[in-house]
Amino acid sequence: MKNNETLMELRDVRVRFPVGADWRGKAKSCVHALNGLDLAVRRGETLGIVGESGCGKSTLAQLMMGLLAPSSGAIFRARSSGSWFGSGMQMVFQDPQSSLDPRLPVWRTITEPVYVQYHNPVRERRALAEALAEQVGIRGGYLDRLPHEFSGGQRQRLSIARALSSEPDIVVLDEPTSALDVSVQAQILNLLVELQGSRQLTYVLISHNVSVVRYMSDRVAVMYLGQIVELGDSQEVLNHPQHPYTRLLLDSVPRADRPLQEADGGVGELPDNRKLPPGCFFFDRCPYAGDGCQVPQRLEAKASGVEVRCHRV
Ligand SMILES: Nc1ncnc2c1ncn2[C@@H]1O[C@H](COP(=O)(O)OP(=O)(O)OP(=O)(O)O)[C@@H](O)[C@H]1O
Ligand code: SF4
Ligand SMILES: [Mg+2]
Repeated sequence: MKNNETLMELRDVRVRFPVGADWRGKAKSCVHALNGLDLAVRRGETLGIVGESGCGKSTLAQLMMGLLAPSSGAIFRARSSGSWFGSGMQMVFQDPQSSLDPRLPVWRTITEPVYVQYHNPVRERRALAEALAEQVGIRGGYLDRLPHEFSGGQRQRLSIARALSSEPDIVVLDEPTSALDVSVQAQILNLLVELQGSRQLTYVLISHNVSVVRYMSDRVAVMYLGQIVELGDSQEVLNHPQHPYTRLLLDSVPRADRPLQEADGGVGELPDNRKLPPGCFFFDRCPYAGDGCQVPQRLEAKASGVEVRCHRV
């Protein structure tokens, strides 16, 4: 079920983290993690977010989850219809360990988001745990076990179950398969696809792995230094990349798990995000840099419908 209904929108969002402090406790400088981000999440879609390490993907996730307040800009959230409490949002992390309490039998952990709200009686909570486990492919008989008794893939299934327990309408997936064996990754991705269909979920899928994003996403946003440089239909963006950075990123796909390197056609590294470049953020690394690139670039819709932040495209 895809339509253009907007579930969440970020407008010109910026996030700065103060770093280092002098003797008065005053911050010496700031990390500019997000630098004017405009993005809408549409009901039923999978919106992929790609970009190198440090470009602000997890900061964006925290912002969406309400775990972090923007330094400036605005975030709008449509009233969640599917869920019956909370923000209607849940997150799945790279490391399932972080959402599973090592000391608790997993049936407790996966129903905790519901329990803290409603204090359901034990029998009800058990029944919910079993229903959730079944949906993520874990046998009900295993639910008295502790997290360490499961494999990595099973633990990620359990953390997905936990995220789903409160019936969110948006699930933010931050590198959901990056910590897993390659052989298990596809199974988890397929499970996510299946759950999206049966539960009408909207996904924001964060990954530095372009193949994962290509497989899963309807639309994709490419991030660079806390900005979106290209945004649109994922086939369009990934098959016909227009922004010089997107091209560089895709050229390096087999090694997308490492920072871009000179051999990949790029020059230099991700600029220091404590001092932002005055013009186009990609200027120092761009093979096409020239006249008109020294001024800030705006994200603009091109003929293909894809939005690109580069005046030369
Ligand atoms: N709490 C914080 N305090 C200071 N700097 C931070 C904080 N959180 C993030 N940053 C910085 O903000 C920038 C963006 O970080 P973020 O974690 O969002 O990147 P990312 O795209 O998720 O990277 P990765 O792919 O490695 O997970 C980085 O330079 C990071 O060091
Ligand atoms: S604006 Fe100029 S420097 Fe920036 S990406 Fe486009 S061509 Fe490259
Ligand atoms: Mg991250």
